[in-house]
Amino acid sequence: MKFNPSATAIAPQDLRHVGQATPRVDGALKTTGQAPYAGEYEADVPEAAVGWVLGAGIAKGRITDMQLDAAQAAPGVRAIVTADNAGALAKGQRNTAKLLGGPRIDHYHQAIAVVVADTLEQARAAAALIEVSYDASAGRFDLAAERDGAPLAPSKDQEARTDVGDFDTAYATAPVQLDATYTTPDQSHAMMEPPATWAAWQGEGADASLTVWTSTQMVDWCRTDLAATLKMPKDKVRVRSPFIGGGFGGKLFLRADALLAALGAKAAGCPVKVSLQRPLIANNSTHRPATIQRIRLGAKPDGTLTAIAHESWSGDQPEGQPETAVNQTRLLYAAAHRHTAMYLAEMDLPEGNSMRAPGEAPGMMALEVAMDELAERLDMDPVLLRLRNDTEVDPEHPERRFTQRRLAPCLREGAQHFGWDQRARQPGTQRQGRWAIGMGMAAAFRSHILMKSAARVRLERDGTVTVETDMTDIGTGSYTVLAQTAADVLGLPLERVQVKLGDSDWPVSAGSGGQFGAANATGGVYAACMALRGAIARKLGLDPAQAEFHAGCVQAQGRSVALTDAAREHAPLVAEDGIEYDEALSKKWQHATYAAHFVEVAVHVDTAEIRVRRMLAVCAAGRILNPLTARSQVMGAMTMGVGAALMEALAVDTNLGLFINHDLAGYEVPVHADIAQQEVIFLDDPDAMASPLQAKGIAELGLCGAAAAVANAIYNATGVRVRDYPVTLDKLIEHWPAAA
Ligand code: MOS
Repeated sequence: MKFNPSATAIAPQDLRHVGQATPRVDGALKTTGQAPYAGEYEADVPEAAVGWVLGAGIAKGRITDMQLDAAQAAPGVRAIVTADNAGALAKGQRNTAKLLGGPRIDHYHQAIAVVVADTLEQARAAAALIEVSYDASAGRFDLAAERDGAPLAPSKDQEARTDVGDFDTAYATAPVQLDATYTTPDQSHAMMEPPATWAAWQGEGADASLTVWTSTQMVDWCRTDLAATLKMPKDKVRVRSPFIGGGFGGKLFLRADALLAALGAKAAGCPVKVSLQRPLIANNSTHRPATIQRIRLGAKPDGTLTAIAHESWSGDQPEGQPETAVNQTRLLYAAAHRHTAMYLAEMDLPEGNSMRAPGEAPGMMALEVAMDELAERLDMDPVLLRLRNDTEVDPEHPERRFTQRRLAPCLREGAQHFGWDQRARQPGTQRQGRWAIGMGMAAAFRSHILMKSAARVRLERDGTVTVETDMTDIGTGSYTVLAQTAADVLGLPLERVQVKLGDSDWPVSAGSGGQFGAANATGGVYAACMALRGAIARKLGLDPAQAEFHAGCVQAQGRSVALTDAAREHAPLVAEDGIEYDEALSKKWQHATYAAHFVEVAVHVDTAEIRVRRMLAVCAAGRILNPLTARSQVMGAMTMGVGAALMEALAVDTNLGLFINHDLAGYEVPVHADIAQQEVIFLDDPDAMASPLQAKGIAELGLCGAAAAVANAIYNATGVRVRDYPVTLDKLIEHWPAAA
């Protein structure tokens, strides 16, 4: 089905479940331990063995020798796969570094072997007997050292550099100026469920086919790149990923667990499970790369921005990609003279790639602090500064408009609801006992992406409906919003819809990433359900154009037939369709989501310990499909923002080239006790240009800007500006005279 903004829309009278706070339909499975995760398929594949991954002990260089004999002779060992005996492998389209290294080593903990044994303990013990000799070479591990001379990033999906007007002149002549540089660290996705895969082969030789039960956000990407890497036809690879214990972008792409499980299973001649060991995750898989960001803002005394420049430096493996931290600066605020640029240093740290809200998440950590700094120089309220520079058009391409622009209502509602007028205008002046109190805010912005998405729906003999799509639920609520959608389009109660996800045998969906999952996948289910409506009506001799589906019945031309009766007679009835968008739609229009974050912190004057007391996010993202799951997404994202502001950082050993704190003991993330109060308000405002359900993405929006709001609140409390994330107490205390 081709999406037509004026015509392709769920009928308002059909909205009975969509838009309601509906508890998750998979909740019982998850809370009773019955949702099968990738590492839990023992029942399906008896006779399976377990793989243990060996990671490289150097960051760059060559393996000169690998002694496998002792490991091979160890108890229970069935096979050891290395680059030497794995056969010819290609590289998936979406991988930068090779997933099985050797003899060349591209990064620390790059997988160099998988040991397959009867039990996990045997595989681990045997792996410890492998002796590897290396010839290590010097590498590039320090972004600050690589910054000078880093070239503009290659323009792949987006331009590396944009210019409008004459930035240099406008900035030089601006009455009020800000020129500040911010740094954000490497971060790890730190999802609860590690990357894990069961792999099983069927058949031999050219007929061989492979099934993997894995944990992937994008079933079709995983299938495509696994087939490409193994040099086999895509239709011989089946990927199943029904439940996922968190991804945050770390499971967008084929990773070593899936490849090594497949190779291990082939070598051992039995199904193999590989669950990537926790201490390998940070260096073996992808991470959010560190950035250095320079922002220059020029303004008139009334706060009108005349010049904006945002330059960002990041690093990646050869042929990698930049962190697109300037994205939002191209779209968020008006100013006649503009410059953005992304520079990419070739480095030898592990592969950088998408982590929740790539681009905007680290980009707004800098931009929204810069706006706070400018507001102070202007002696202007930070909310007013943002309102003053709002724009109705794409500032780089004024002929392009936003389908909706809701930043101003988010800012106003947030300021009012939070009690922003209680904020001390003078930083460092509010005290409660030994605590310094401060408030901060930030705007949030994240583009919404239109992606095609398909589904199959089937009317079963008992009158229930089954939805099948390769869409995934990474903890976001996909099962639930897709069930709500099918229930409403077909006029059924929720209990009569069964949603099945995460199988490459089913139609290809948008998948889960870039906050594009829910809006597009519900569009695909809408299209398939509309096709099923047509099929049901035709079977009953009714005019599909007139047929209405309500309360379990189809009605047209004065007749009403219960779907249970129609099913008894005609089931199974199957329909398959998807939603597709004209490319012109996103060329001509900018689809985006907006929010405003408000934060109150307390900083202890003796220790500079930081406590987040209150957080509020006001969000506008089209129709809110399910306020319950959407709220959970935004709260999770805000929590991640607190992590980014206060604690999350992969510590780089710039001599050895590795992330040192590569487990959950050393990589700190926030817990419930870290945030006393969180509140989320939705400006529920359907966007007819976005999708058949008039919805947009919400999950990543909640992260964008959240860390900056925390940092700005800390400044308001203490008067100390830390531009180097995370804002830890050691960075604060040395510049804070009030502290003991
Ligand atoms: Mo998101 S970083 O595209 O899972």
